[in-house]
Amino acid sequence: MKALQLTQYGAIDKSIAFAEIAVPQPKSNQVLIKVHSAAINPIDYHLIEGSVKQVIKLDFPTTLGLDLSGTVTKVGTGVTNFAEGDEVYTRVPSESPGTFAEYIAVDSNVVAKKPHNIGFEASSSIPLVGLTTVQALAQAQIKSGDKILIHAGSGGVGSFAIQYAKTKGAYVYTTTSTKNVDWVKKLGADRVIDYTKENYLEIVKDADIVYDTLGDKYTEDAFQVIKQGGKVISIVGKIDDQTAKEFGLNSFIRFLLALKRRKITKLSRKKKAYYRMVIMQPNAQQLNEISTLVEKEAIKPVIDKVFSFDQAKEALLYQKSGRAKGKIILKVL
Ligand SMILES: NC(=O)c1ccc[n+]([C@@H]2O[C@H](COP(=O)([O-])OP(=O)(O)OC[C@H]3O[C@@H](n4cnc5c(N)ncnc54)[C@H](OP(=O)(O)O)[C@@H]3O)[C@@H](O)[C@H]2O)c1
Repeated sequence: MKALQLTQYGAIDKSIAFAEIAVPQPKSNQVLIKVHSAAINPIDYHLIEGSVKQVIKLDFPTTLGLDLSGTVTKVGTGVTNFAEGDEVYTRVPSESPGTFAEYIAVDSNVVAKKPHNIGFEASSSIPLVGLTTVQALAQAQIKSGDKILIHAGSGGVGSFAIQYAKTKGAYVYTTTSTKNVDWVKKLGADRVIDYTKENYLEIVKDADIVYDTLGDKYTEDAFQVIKQGGKVISIVGKIDDQTAKEFGLNSFIRFLLALKRRKITKLSRKKKAYYRMVIMQPNAQQLNEISTLVEKEAIKPVIDKVFSFDQAKEALLYQKSGRAKGKIILKVL
């Protein structure tokens, strides 16, 4: 089968190549999935460039890709919840990527049936951004009436998060640039802030939650716009100690991380705020909950561009440009 593999860490155009490899055989707890579509995510180029190699160690060559939708073609002997022909979607574990391939064997406990009202391409756009947001906003204990600022509302994460926060009854502020303002408004955001013309720090006051998808100064400035006792949930900011413990990091590394986030700790104490850096985990139950929201049309996937499998490098470079409007999809089948 054809697979897009990482052959070494480095630039996108120098470090990946298509290879012909054997179709994997599912273990007893796995399903073999014929991949129809796979979404591209920023983590894909981070893996290629080696910028997360301290946390996610890969052997070479490794088939890339974390999101997929496709059809089950074989089930392991111990799998009872899936059958051949099931149309499914998943975000596979970071340490075992491989959705940029014609087939992948995946542990059945991270797989869910895809929403029945949307196609494969749209389904593959959801797992990573959807699970990240469900897990981040669960940390924030989002509830009806909360005021939330979601940064980068036109990105893959932001375009899902706006719709998800609205299903929770929140009042949504979001930031984007002029070209995206109109369509982001249509996702349900109550106040779209055009960052090229307006300063969100002057507009958002006493927010209950900031969902930080940009990091650095945006993480620090989040403490200016939350209310006393508010919550800052980042997916790109400095790692907090609870997340570090959950990832099994040793006490020396946790000490170094604490030094790195001194400013966040100080800002957070001043505001009596709750700060977490969420690193998403595969989760089939949460995918099932997302399917229900998609089937009710409370959440609609936002697709920017669909690339053919052969155009994978272009798709990855486009993702890296940081200008995607929703999700970028690789059509594998
Ligand atoms: N911790 C985790 O588990 C986890 C999970 C998922 C993602 N992430 C991280 O979260 C970040 C966002 O991911 P993504 O998939 O949403 O990225 P993305 O789709 O590449 O985001 C692109 C969008 O960001 C917007 N943007 C860029 N700069 C902006 C700014 N200063 N203000 C407002 N919007 C801005 C762009 O809009 P304009 O063109 O209008 O500027 C564009 O629409 C990435 O760094 C990713 O690695 C982490």
